[in-house]
Amino acid sequence: MDWKKKILVTGGAGFIGSHLVRLLVNKYPDYLVVNFDKLTYAGNLNNLDDVKDHKNYVFVKGDICSNSDVKEAFESYDISDVIHLAAESHVDRSIEGPIEFVMTNVVGTVNLLHAARNHWGKEDGHIFHHVSTDEVYGSLGAEGLFEETTAYDPRSPYSASKASSDHFVNAFHHTYGMPIKISNCSNNYGSHQFPEKLIPLMIHNIVHNKALPVYGKGENIRDWLWVVDHASAIETIFHEGRIGESYNVGGLNEWTNIDLVRFLCKMMDEKLDREPGTNEKLISFVTDRAGHDLRYAIDATKLEEELKWRPSITFEEGLEKTVDWYLANQEWVEQVTSGDYQAYYDNMYSDR
Ligand code: NAD
Ligand code: TYD
Repeated sequence: MDWKKKILVTGGAGFIGSHLVRLLVNKYPDYLVVNFDKLTYAGNLNNLDDVKDHKNYVFVKGDICSNSDVKEAFESYDISDVIHLAAESHVDRSIEGPIEFVMTNVVGTVNLLHAARNHWGKEDGHIFHHVSTDEVYGSLGAEGLFEETTAYDPRSPYSASKASSDHFVNAFHHTYGMPIKISNCSNNYGSHQFPEKLIPLMIHNIVHNKALPVYGKGENIRDWLWVVDHASAIETIFHEGRIGESYNVGGLNEWTNIDLVRFLCKMMDEKLDREPGTNEKLISFVTDRAGHDLRYAIDATKLEEELKWRPSITFEEGLEKTVDWYLANQEWVEQVTSGDYQAYYDNMYSDR
């Protein structure tokens, strides 16, 4: 088959990556989608059961930090474009062990850039799209929004590693003419998210009548976007965004953590047929995260005006879909939490 594009999607077995792979495989039968993933604790091929037999989908198990793994993937499939999502993605884990974050997020990204440059040379028509986070901008006070021009000011080992990888992506553009795009997105939620991040962790604990650990006073603010909308934003920026540019992606949807957890508790009282107020009693305020960023909020005007992208659904709709998915897919949750999840959980939460 003469593929129109041969896209290496790194981290395609993870949360956002699997939604993006699904979108690309279904919508672009003339693209070959090569899912390149190491399958860490966060990667799960079952996320892609519905597309695994499609002709335009291939899975390659590989490590972005390995020179030979990456080179072999570029050469075997004559990769024309990269959408790079593979990363260590959880702030709390980065506080426990920052080195892994530097290795995967920084060294892995530079290794990929290097391989792309070797494979493409000076040829036109390629794209290296780096999927990044709004956390590179640091922490907001009560006012203001992150714009593309906001100075980078990362505060956690995770955000410092993502900021560093963004800088390398830009450096390859300026130094070698690498055709790059960067998207910086706010917090995502939706199906297939590993239950270490706020929303799936709270859903999981509510189902099992376990304490709901809210850090500090729960006053920190995040701007939540449905993962399917993030995937559509990446698709839009990949195709229509300008080379060398960054685009902020967000939902104009700010919630304090405590309001969000209370809202989820109410929704799940109904879904689980529990007395109103039952789940809220599980809330437990615990020791705050070290260096906890107060507020993230995105100004996505550039993406909306230039590329006409908008989120497709409200937070209320997206959260209900998400809760319904987790309740209907407890087997998935059991599978991904069957390894060393309990040890992780005890280590992270027992002393708080
Ligand atoms: P995730 O943790 O769910 O998935 C990461 C994936 O990368 C997994 O499939 C894992 O196996 C793979 N991976 C890890 N190390 C690898 C390596 N060395 N080689 C190959 N594959 C490897 O992450 P996510 O939440 O889907 O995030 C995806 C990307 O989007 C990340 O780059 C993250 O920084 C960024 N991002 C995430 C959010 C969010 O809210 N989750 C928001 C903005 C940006
Ligand atoms: P998280 O989902 O880890 O995303 P990020 O840190 O990248 O924004 O956390 C979202 C917010 O929820 C953040 O302010 C920390 C808070 N939080 C809790 O209060 N309790 C928890 O158990 C977790 C995982 C997060």
